[in-house]
Amino acid sequence: MEKNCYILGLESSCDETAAAIVANGRQLRSRALATSIAKHQEFGGVVPELASRAQLELILPVIEECLDKSGLEPKDLDAIAVTAGPGLVGSLLVGITAAKALAFAYAKPLIGVHHLCGHVAANYLLDEVLKPPFLALIISGGHSHIAIVHDYCDYELLARTRDDAVGEVYDKLAREMGLGYPGGPVIDKLAKFGDSAAFNLPQAQFKDSLDFSFSGLKTACLEIWHKAKQRGENSDELQFNLLASFQATVVSSIISRAKLALAAHPELNTIVLAGGVAANSALRRGLDDTFANQYKINYPSLDLCTDNAAMIAAQAYYHWAINDFSELSMNADSRLELPRNRDK
Ligand code: KG4
Ligand code: ZN
Repeated sequence: MEKNCYILGLESSCDETAAAIVANGRQLRSRALATSIAKHQEFGGVVPELASRAQLELILPVIEECLDKSGLEPKDLDAIAVTAGPGLVGSLLVGITAAKALAFAYAKPLIGVHHLCGHVAANYLLDEVLKPPFLALIISGGHSHIAIVHDYCDYELLARTRDDAVGEVYDKLAREMGLGYPGGPVIDKLAKFGDSAAFNLPQAQFKDSLDFSFSGLKTACLEIWHKAKQRGENSDELQFNLLASFQATVVSSIISRAKLALAAHPELNTIVLAGGVAANSALRRGLDDTFANQYKINYPSLDLCTDNAAMIAAQAYYHWAINDFSELSMNADSRLELPRNRDK
């Protein structure tokens, strides 16, 4: 039997501080995660300075906990992986500095991982036979991408948002409604009580492009909410209806683009959902209803939808497999582009 490849992954691109060890890109061996979410809640969003300060304190205990749980020694590891970007620079640097120190001290290869490839790779941990090519819908707090994953480290971006990301709009709406942070889970819950046809909200579409735009939808929802508030008409019923209509509009814009992307690429037979918003119940249901009879659909489990380090270690395995290592001089890149390894 071949020896297992153990990779320690670190993730600190936003408000989480996480470490995980994954074997062969597919089996989760151990993990530890700490979040500074409570510190941000009163501000209705992540405060970068608070996040990185908390991460500085948390990173070493989290790594230690993860190693302890794994029963492995650092010498048993085959590589140290870390989110290289995109994300908050101060936060990314905490993970990167820790990863570099470990890689140097134990003479292990260092692997910088794209955060969004990590989100996609969360799916490899749940489905041992999932492999590219497939269509990835990567919908998170900072990004809304549609990409063809030609190979594990070869992404072709088909669409991105030109302004707000989906998760960002959920968080903004929740903040304006006093629902706390993050907004996605609570809006997902409340929207179930509303009528999704109550409001006819704008859905942006571009000529000759699958790109998203959600700022018009955000503004429309906020306007309805603020006007209702001014008139004292901001009842629970109005709120639930507005949230249900908002969510239905988001789901519909994602599904309509996925349909176009798949129609243009008949060679694809699998859809992979990834990112924090992959936890959304309406989006999952919508994708199932629309595509399940024709396509295989993969979703991460709820605990692997939002930021975690297992997804980083899983993706790193496929960089390891092609000797795609990073230098110890690697820097954080808050705007890192998806890896594209071949000419179109
Ligand atoms: O991927 P993620 O953990 O962080 C980024 O990489 O950005 O995503 C976090 C985002 C937040 O905006 C949060 O509100 C959203 O994912 N989210 C959801 C749900 N759960 C988390 N959005 C909609 N429905 C959910 N159930
Ligand atoms: Zn993320």
